[in-house]
Amino acid sequence: MVKKAELHVHLEGTMPPALVRQLAARNSAQIDPATFKSESEYAWDDFWHFLDCYDKAAATILTKDDYRMVTYDYLARCAQEDTIYVEMFSSPDHAAEVGMSYADHLEGIAAGIDDAQREFDIVGRIIVTCVRHLGAQKALKVAERFVATPHPYVVGFGMGGDETQFHPKDFAPAFNLANKAGFKTTTHAGEFGGPESIRASLDNLPISRIGHGVRAIEDIALIAEIADRRIPLELSPGSNVATGLFRDRSSHPFKALMDAGCVVTLNSDDPPFFATSIGHEYDEAAQSYHLSESDLNQITRNAILAAFCDEALKEELLAKI
Ligand code: ADE
Ligand code: ZN
Repeated sequence: MVKKAELHVHLEGTMPPALVRQLAARNSAQIDPATFKSESEYAWDDFWHFLDCYDKAAATILTKDDYRMVTYDYLARCAQEDTIYVEMFSSPDHAAEVGMSYADHLEGIAAGIDDAQREFDIVGRIIVTCVRHLGAQKALKVAERFVATPHPYVVGFGMGGDETQFHPKDFAPAFNLANKAGFKTTTHAGEFGGPESIRASLDNLPISRIGHGVRAIEDIALIAEIADRRIPLELSPGSNVATGLFRDRSSHPFKALMDAGCVVTLNSDDPPFFATSIGHEYDEAAQSYHLSESDLNQITRNAILAAFCDEALKEELLAKI
């Protein structure tokens, strides 16, 4: 079995509906029935509705132990698919929304990483993210807390959310703070924004990778720049098809970007929302883009080389492929 590594997955977006119901029940919390379409499916019909649905699911994570459970549960599922490394986006803003401290949020996730590593020999690391549509002030607050609270599992800073809102330069103070403290950074760009959104991110933020970046396909010069500068793309074909960016996997430019020399990786983004998993992304990519086992191994190598963890861990992980 091909070993897999994932760099782009939102922890609050990894919960299957059954886990959300379980957390809501154990916390005696209400969950709006409209959050779900069926026992195992979330209900949303466009990207903005998805973000709302994601917030509702995230609001059921109320305690440090809930975060431990969500993290452990996700890594356990990844390990079953021969995944050796996962870099997870955590969102302190979502934790704060339910009254949880930054420390509890982080310690819960770290405990889940420890439990999963002990049991399944899978390694997890954390990228702390801000939420773009909440604005630059909140992003800076997250970055300040991030820099003030170092943790061995926290390896980078990032930004998710609605990229059609605000401009990347508004977030430069937050990203520069994180970067000057020695951390690598990544941002969602070129998902619901076009190639100009990617270029604005590259021009204004100290980013080492791009979350999605798939709409670089609309600008040949930008593709060449991303390839030449070896800026890894965190591609998520299943997510992009589910949110309606592309008709199907064969129309997704994963292979075109790969053939153009871009450093590509495969990711699940918010797996139960998009009826996918990291294993499913690898299987579907192999089929849709006619990838060989050696291509898939190279994609895993790309992810490990582009990871924000330390070099010693990268060496250990590369030796497993
Ligand atoms: N937050 C969770 N999933 C996201 C996505 N696909 N794009 C932007 N922000 C997100
Ligand atoms: Zn994402």
